[in-house]
Amino acid sequence: MREQVPVRIGDRSYDVLIGPGVRSSLAEVIRGLGARRVAVVSARPAQWVPDTGVETLLLPARDGEPDKNLATVEALCAEFVRFGLTRSDAVVSCGGGTTTDVVGLAAALYHRGVPVVHLPTTLLAQVDASVGGKTAVNLPSGKNLVGAYWQPAAVLCDTDYLATLPHREMLNGLGEIARCHFIGAGDLRPLALADRIAASVTLKAGIVSADERDTGLRHLLNYGHTLGHALEVATDFALRHGEAVAVGTVFAGLLAGVLDRIDPARVDEHRAVVASYGLPGALPEGVRPGELVELMRRDKKALSGLAFVLDGPAGAELVHDVPERAVLEALARMPRRPLTRLVGHGADGPAGTGAAVS
Ligand code: GLY
Repeated sequence: MREQVPVRIGDRSYDVLIGPGVRSSLAEVIRGLGARRVAVVSARPAQWVPDTGVETLLLPARDGEPDKNLATVEALCAEFVRFGLTRSDAVVSCGGGTTTDVVGLAAALYHRGVPVVHLPTTLLAQVDASVGGKTAVNLPSGKNLVGAYWQPAAVLCDTDYLATLPHREMLNGLGEIARCHFIGAGDLRPLALADRIAASVTLKAGIVSADERDTGLRHLLNYGHTLGHALEVATDFALRHGEAVAVGTVFAGLLAGVLDRIDPARVDEHRAVVASYGLPGALPEGVRPGELVELMRRDKKALSGLAFVLDGPAGAELVHDVPERAVLEALARMPRRPLTRLVGHGADGPAGTGAAVS
């Protein structure tokens, strides 16, 4: 069964197709764009890329932060020129979130913008990175410092790609799915994996439609991310993004409780939801609260002071100028575990993928 989620942003609207085998729609999508040539940039084996129906240049890529830079964008654009790609042709990405990011930016810049179709192959990329048009690369001085909003022409989230995904890669995506529980998606735990992806994408599509340029509502997508980003840095990226967001989600619940925004049952719901996805919900031992506070002060949502997306009586919202003592109190209430017990495992042992994965 395939699901189709529209992302409505005026003349930049597009559909996200989700389900087993949806990659086979690529040729139809390319035909619809009227492209005569396609450059496919793939971090996966050639056989993972379906027929495009037109003359195709296949360019190998590598997932990962080391290749997410301007040199890769330049090298890709140089290949597009050699191939004779024009503004009325198209680019396709196939891979994880770092690949959709770098290929999306190359597409945004080449000839001042050519259509791009994403084939995200990881759960994280399917539920988050490939949808919404944020593209960026890293500079030596920091992550995602150079980028553009460039909406794809279509996103094909083929769930067949997920069948061989390593366990920690699944956890990486589940962290983003778990935080959807608290920003308007409701309880996705009883759903099959494809339905969880569709629900997460539907939530994101609504938010992006209302705030494409991240000036307000889109901040909600960063639920759990303020501490999450700090933990990624503090653990030298030993915690994967989704794992760190899961810990950050438990923390966001505790902080909202400390600030009397939610009752103890709702605080506990944060811990329970994260644990039931098999995700970690404790701070790694040895990470100092003071270091985390300093890292969180540098969060880009915080114009000054400490800012968090927090649950409350009217739902989640961005809260500025949260007192440091409340943040330290919430950190003190977090359980602590050795990092080795958090990495790749949930609070109660080896991670599962939740109730119903198919
Ligand atoms: N990943 C957060 C956003 O797309 O805004």
